[in-house]
Amino acid sequence: MVDIHSHILPGWDDGARTLDESLSMLRIAAERGTTDIVATPHANSEFPYDAGAIQDRFEELRSAAGDLIRVHLGCDFHLSYENVQDAIENPDKYTINHKSYLMVELPDMIAPESARTVMSRLHQSGITCVITHPERNPRLRVRLDVLKECLQEGALVQITGQSLLGRFGSEAKTCAHQMFKQGLVHFIASDAHDCEDRPPRLDLARKYVGDRFGVAEAERLFDTNPRATLSGADIDDNTTENQEPRRKWYSFWT
Ligand SMILES: [Fe+2]
Repeated sequence: MVDIHSHILPGWDDGARTLDESLSMLRIAAERGTTDIVATPHANSEFPYDAGAIQDRFEELRSAAGDLIRVHLGCDFHLSYENVQDAIENPDKYTINHKSYLMVELPDMIAPESARTVMSRLHQSGITCVITHPERNPRLRVRLDVLKECLQEGALVQITGQSLLGRFGSEAKTCAHQMFKQGLVHFIASDAHDCEDRPPRLDLARKYVGDRFGVAEAERLFDTNPRATLSGADIDDNTTENQEPRRKWYSFWT
């Protein structure tokens, strides 16, 4: 499996605190069937994205990991004016392996038209936005039509494995199921932060998906699609035919 969302850089953000903890997380991931994991440090006001320092930390971790697991670099990109401008000017700065896929967390308070405009602008810059865990966003999960609008601008969707297992509450779990029914899921990742509460395990979620939605769907969401992000290849998007036609635009989230 390929895990495209994790906070495993040692002592950098709110994830692993030390190199030992990072390596423990990597061991958990490898033992549970993950062959490749993407370190996605935050890029927000609390944890600014210092590309040079992050690259150094990443190299340190990758060297320490050895043959245990392949480690890649990406970013947990939060939408702000400055971040978006910088990404447009430097399209491969924040993307996974400096290719084309960018993990993007939508803020709680964003006008739908703004979300759609930003997705469109980033897409025009050659970036494919992967919207992270919308099922955990209380505003977004009750407005999946907004998500569909973003998908029509080229965005894709990642849900968190633990959402399916109930870690983020019944509403997140219910929303994740609705997203499956409507063909709105392209990736499942761990968004791991530690070894116990939010570990980098995908095996349980993969079994859950396989049991309910089939082995082929699990293969697509945990392996085929996330593996494509490592090289920047197109994904297997069998969700398009399930999407509803574009709806009339109107605002909410004032
Ligand atoms: Fe994250």
